[in-house]
Amino acid sequence: MAPKPLVVIADPIDATALETLRSGPCRVLDASGAPADLSRHLGEAWGLIVRSRTKVTADLISKAPHLTLVARAGVGVDNIDLTATGARGIRVVNAPGAAATSVAELTVALYLLLVRGLWPSITATRAGRWERGAHGHELSGRTVGFVGYGRIAREVARRIAPFGARAIAYDPFVTRATDSTELVGLDSLLGSSDIVSLHAALTAENRHLLDARAFERMRPGTFLVNVARGALVDEIALLAALRSGRLAGAALDVFEVEPPTNRELLDDPRVIPTPHIGALTEEGQRRAGTEIVNEVLRALKGEPLASLVAPAGGAR
Ligand code: MLT
Repeated sequence: MAPKPLVVIADPIDATALETLRSGPCRVLDASGAPADLSRHLGEAWGLIVRSRTKVTADLISKAPHLTLVARAGVGVDNIDLTATGARGIRVVNAPGAAATSVAELTVALYLLLVRGLWPSITATRAGRWERGAHGHELSGRTVGFVGYGRIAREVARRIAPFGARAIAYDPFVTRATDSTELVGLDSLLGSSDIVSLHAALTAENRHLLDARAFERMRPGTFLVNVARGALVDEIALLAALRSGRLAGAALDVFEVEPPTNRELLDDPRVIPTPHIGALTEEGQRRAGTEIVNEVLRALKGEPLASLVAPAGGAR
């Protein structure tokens, strides 16, 4: 009898989801504890489960001759070489909605931190300075400009409406509004937002979408929030925009290089840095694990897939 298909877990996923997978019609090899050894386990792999740590490159794929499915327990698939998977007919699935609430809540928290000037306030108070001058603004009445208006941005828009904030959005893939957010062009968004909020998937076309020219379009005192992908922003141009006052502050959950190495950016008092934690709540990770395991089980049983990114479907 032929052995059951082998599913290799490259990055840690939720423990309950892993148990569910183990009860499925497959063998499971959890290689998440020793990433350096991953390639040794790929020879027999039928399926591969990754989060963002593992880079599914053409080289990795060449070591997995029987691979038919790459399952991304999260939304972004920029760590997967879709040309290489496509050339082999390997299907790629993700868990697009699993962490939308977690990322949306973090985003709103970052807006409030920036707009109210809480970060410098906390730092000063801790350092023994009692600085009670006029402090920050209300979120009410501010315009938030979403760059990328997919699931997460729409969740954020829903959450800031009760604050009295106005929402506008630029997204080349969205042509019709389904809520009260006004769709605008990128230049118009940059020039009229109090907070520019990044939520786009990273593609070859939008790398450094926010470059020196884009920052020049913003009004002095604009805030930037990036919970999407670091490479959407040119970090050199970002630092210059902070120093010139074009940007009053930036909250960054993602960086061009992770962990970030740009000390000047990290040390700038106007920057609030977090370590790519948008999706990392207990609830978000439980949902991501469950959704992706269910998708792998559907593939094992030959059932239709719910979140096929490639070769057909979309990563958004
Ligand atoms: C995602 O794309 O799911 C999030 O950015 C989290 C991650 O990359 O792991």
